[in-house]
Amino acid sequence: MSQPGSSESIKSVLHETRRFPPPADFTAQANISSEEQYQEMWNRAKDDPAGFWGEIATETLSWSKPFDKACEGTMPNTKWFGGGQINACYNCVDRHALTWRKNKAAIIWEGEPGDTRVLTYGDLQREVSKFANVLKQLGVETGDRVTLYMPMIPELAIAMLACARIGATHSIIFGGFSADAVADRNNDAQSKVVVTADAGWRRGKEVPLKSAVDESLKKSTTVEKVVVVRRTGSPVNMVPDRDYWWHDLMAKASADCEAVAVDAEHPLFILYTSGSTGKPKGVLHTTAGYLLGAQMSTRWVFDLREEDTYWCTADIGWITGHSYICYGPLANGASVVMYEGAPNWPDNGRFWEIIEKYKVSIFYTAPTAIRAFIKWGDEWPNKHDLSSLRLLGSVGEPINPEAWMWYHKVIGAERCPIVDTWWQTETGAIMISPLPGITSTKPGSCTRPLPGVVPDIVTKSGKSLGPNEGGLLVMKQSWPSMLRTLYGDHDRYLKTYFSDIEGCYFAGDGARRDEDGFYWVMGRVDDVLNVSGHRLSTMEVESALVSHPLVAEAAVVGFPHEIKGEGICCFVIPKGQTPEDAAKQDLINHVRKQIGALATPDQIRFTSALPKTRSGKIMRRLLRDIAAGKESQGDTTTLEDYTVLAKLREEDE
Ligand code: WT7
Repeated sequence: MSQPGSSESIKSVLHETRRFPPPADFTAQANISSEEQYQEMWNRAKDDPAGFWGEIATETLSWSKPFDKACEGTMPNTKWFGGGQINACYNCVDRHALTWRKNKAAIIWEGEPGDTRVLTYGDLQREVSKFANVLKQLGVETGDRVTLYMPMIPELAIAMLACARIGATHSIIFGGFSADAVADRNNDAQSKVVVTADAGWRRGKEVPLKSAVDESLKKSTTVEKVVVVRRTGSPVNMVPDRDYWWHDLMAKASADCEAVAVDAEHPLFILYTSGSTGKPKGVLHTTAGYLLGAQMSTRWVFDLREEDTYWCTADIGWITGHSYICYGPLANGASVVMYEGAPNWPDNGRFWEIIEKYKVSIFYTAPTAIRAFIKWGDEWPNKHDLSSLRLLGSVGEPINPEAWMWYHKVIGAERCPIVDTWWQTETGAIMISPLPGITSTKPGSCTRPLPGVVPDIVTKSGKSLGPNEGGLLVMKQSWPSMLRTLYGDHDRYLKTYFSDIEGCYFAGDGARRDEDGFYWVMGRVDDVLNVSGHRLSTMEVESALVSHPLVAEAAVVGFPHEIKGEGICCFVIPKGQTPEDAAKQDLINHVRKQIGALATPDQIRFTSALPKTRSGKIMRRLLRDIAAGKESQGDTTTLEDYTVLAKLREEDE
């Protein structure tokens, strides 16, 4: 990934002069359809956030008790919708089930093997109510934490909404994380119950989940009960009085369960994400502000209409799935496609087959997937009728202009606007993105902030920068779906996000703003990797490596990777003699076991020294150059040379 401020990244984006205005027929029907409307909304939200959000919240959400004031205090201690009471599940399910939408498809699900299920809003209300009663019967109370470690099956959405229904806080752990990672997160969140499945399907193979939960529970101090969905039918070990089958409990549960009114700032969920230290952060989102952000951004950015069939390909285990499979679209009463498996199973055309089959109209995916599609070849999408599509979205990392153009031409047939959406686990909802009815897009730019989002580009000392000057991307004003704390560590929250730049939320990204006020995100400026659109900290991988008996010291950096965006390169100083090459596989397996398959290193390089500053800080930039193969002298340059170089540079300073 290009480093912000490097002449290379700035040069490559400055070359991009193509503009893609929205088609006139798209603009004519769009939810936000004129530049004046956008300007008016944006200015109002900036100057009078309480008035702007207060009106929208009253009009578009169903409240059990109206709030007194939409927002009070300044960032980081802003309180949203104080005095108000609300239930997120009621807003996503019941209020639709009470109307003609009762029989509208809420979730159109397809399993990897090809099995399908459709749940209407009426079905969803029954299933969610039953599972809410199951949770209560297992001892879950308002305020308790429940871990969901599940495949992409409807039961995952049902379980998260059931938690919201009774005011329990869900902590979803992506199924690709290891047993150790599950144990750490369960202990940190003090989860009482874990909901899982026997296994899930991925590329025709089973991803064992229950056995990982069993292993995690050996290290877990708080989990009392486990609920297991039977998905693949593989045998699992059920511990009496601890483990229960989902179908057994549901068969006996009543479909009548009132949605509990909770305070607007009641914790809705915790989602763990990587920071620049080894310990994942429990990002906490609360109820009303988060729900409003997810709901309105879905309406504005995806231009959602009643008759759309909307598909976001993310896993619910990430924030994208929380906000744009579950809460955002369901709050709007949309029909959502949910797919369990891999894009290349049974063949490379699976996604296009799904779009054709369900006549998907809005499609939201990630650059890493788009790059894989390009590699697999145009013949796969070309075999399918994609004419139902009207809007395309991208998220997770900067989309390179080549991938953007391919998406535009081959998938969008030059007809569909593309929304390149910038946001983060912490922001809860999309922050910077085109509005498809009005924005003339530029490939590679996430364009302009949504109403209520007030970003800036600043120097390390907080000075605002001019057009095309690269700097830090910050937020100057609180927004409703902002994280409220890091679970159990409010000091770390204040330090991580609000201590670098006075009065601002600092997001960790470097960016520039061009002469039209369009934002170009250049990548992370901290020690965070973006691997296939997923965040990993270099420190996390380093601490996994040094916990292996062969390893004395390790330094981990990213390098440009054709499909994943960034690959993981590990420089390892072994204890004693340099081990055989076979030991590399051992280290790779060790990292996978500690963190999960998503952290699988691409390269292990044994070395006898690491370049460091006088104060002992590893000079990652040098390592990044080596990992990227950017040695200036060609083959002869070794890490030792760089160490010397580093020393020389340091003496210069
Ligand atoms: C980081 C957040 C939020 C959804 C998925 C990732 C990078 C995300 C974009 C984009 C450039 C992007 C940033 C950000 N990122 N979307 N459209 N253009 N960069 O969530 O794991 O919280 O990671 O992803 O670096 O800080 P996340």
